[in-house]
Amino acid sequence: MSSSSSNPVSTIKPTDLRGILNYVPRFQGQTFVIAMDGSIVADENLSNLLLDIAVLKSLHIRVVLVHGVGHQLKELSAIRKVAISDAEGTGLTDPDTLDLAIRASSRVSHQILEGLTQAGLKCSITNAVRSVPVGIVKGVDQQFSGKVTRIDQDFVAHLIDADVIPIIQPIGFSRDGQTLRINSDLMAVEMATALKATKVIYLSPHTGLEIDGGLRRDIPAEELDAIVRKQPGRINPKLRSKATHAVTAIGSGVPRVHLIDGRVHDSLLNELFSNEGVGTLIFGNDYRQIRQATRRDVRLIHNLIRNAVRRDELIFRTQQAIERNIGNFYVFEIDGNLFACVSLTYFPDQPDMAEVGSLHVVPFYNGRGAGQKMVEFACREARIHGAKKIIALSTQSFTFFSEICDFKETDHDSLPESRQASYDKMKRNPRILIKEL
Ligand SMILES: CC(C)(COP(=O)(O)OP(=O)(O)OC[C@H]1O[C@@H](n2cnc3c(N)ncnc32)[C@H](O)[C@@H]1OP(=O)(O)O)[C@@H](O)C(=O)NCCC(=O)NCCS
Repeated sequence: MSSSSSNPVSTIKPTDLRGILNYVPRFQGQTFVIAMDGSIVADENLSNLLLDIAVLKSLHIRVVLVHGVGHQLKELSAIRKVAISDAEGTGLTDPDTLDLAIRASSRVSHQILEGLTQAGLKCSITNAVRSVPVGIVKGVDQQFSGKVTRIDQDFVAHLIDADVIPIIQPIGFSRDGQTLRINSDLMAVEMATALKATKVIYLSPHTGLEIDGGLRRDIPAEELDAIVRKQPGRINPKLRSKATHAVTAIGSGVPRVHLIDGRVHDSLLNELFSNEGVGTLIFGNDYRQIRQATRRDVRLIHNLIRNAVRRDELIFRTQQAIERNIGNFYVFEIDGNLFACVSLTYFPDQPDMAEVGSLHVVPFYNGRGAGQKMVEFACREARIHGAKKIIALSTQSFTFFSEICDFKETDHDSLPESRQASYDKMKRNPRILIKEL
């Protein structure tokens, strides 16, 4: 990976087709919002980036391009000798700055149009973003700086469906057609949220997110959020806006945000199609893959646990029994496929206690942390519902609960009375484990 030197070169070996093919089923049909800083559009690597975007499109990834104008705005300001109130789109926009921003924006969009045309791709500049003025912040009128109020996602989706790449300028329009300037980092997040995108990819002239002067390859959004709020000085000032917006994106349901050096040849493909990545990955709560089961999952859950029941790892449950208690089940789902399930039961005679059960992970997905995640999730849910302790009954996986999930073995008397009665009726003689929440 390059440093942020003036002539960065990728040291990652070229992405090989076989490697890429592993990712194809995962990414197919997903929406990626790619946000390019103005300086990246001005960089000589632009044509390579646009070719990489052509590769993404050929893999049936739905691409939306958002661009910034900071670099071009500063250039125009110097050439025309017009002072600007803010270059980065984070402060106020006075009338002169708005005028230059519109010109810069047309120029940048045009460059992208040219590049995409060369790459054989169809694209279109849109007016899909409705906005209103930011208004007065800390006593200062932000004038023509805008915030997004609505995105016409049907319009954008329609373009993508028609094989057209929407190009989104850092500009929005009010209801009566007034033009407002919008920060492009924010625009990318708004677009991603509206389109339920799975990734925001920021392409900037930085290797990745620098915290305390060092590059972070990945960081959970929760950790970054705490730094952004309490110790923003630890983040490279040039990347603070992206860091803040990345946290917002993940809070709004976008699972992953990447920060990549757009000047580096192959950086986009290497980040997306290699395990290691080359920039910074900011990722959200992994529990997002876990959801409450619905009646439509009954048959799948029944099938999922059938083999474990045969091996006496789990207790037998009929489809009807699962259906009756479907509200107690949670499933781990990726792209519509169920990989694991777990149940969580409460005891009316002992409200401070819950039971985690029916834990099963499909064998080919074992060892990837899903089992542990399901148990942690059940513990968290139980805690939210006011439980202070959680129990698990296991015949063959008790060491999983004790060694991996921090449960302790306990005795029959620790069970709520209602559970003691059903335990006594069982012939399986499972071990009883407990965890304080
Ligand atoms: C037990 C089970 C849920 C674990 O799921 P998983 O997704 O593979 O587990 P994770 O990836 O979160 O954890 C992996 C760790 O658990 C350990 N582990 C997995 N199954 C285990 C078991 N049956 N007993 C003890 N430890 C086990 C692994 O050795 C690994 O440990 P390591 O990290 O030290 O190498 C899964 O094997 C399963 O579905 N088993 C059949 C059903 C069952 O027994 N359910 C529990 C009864 S309620």
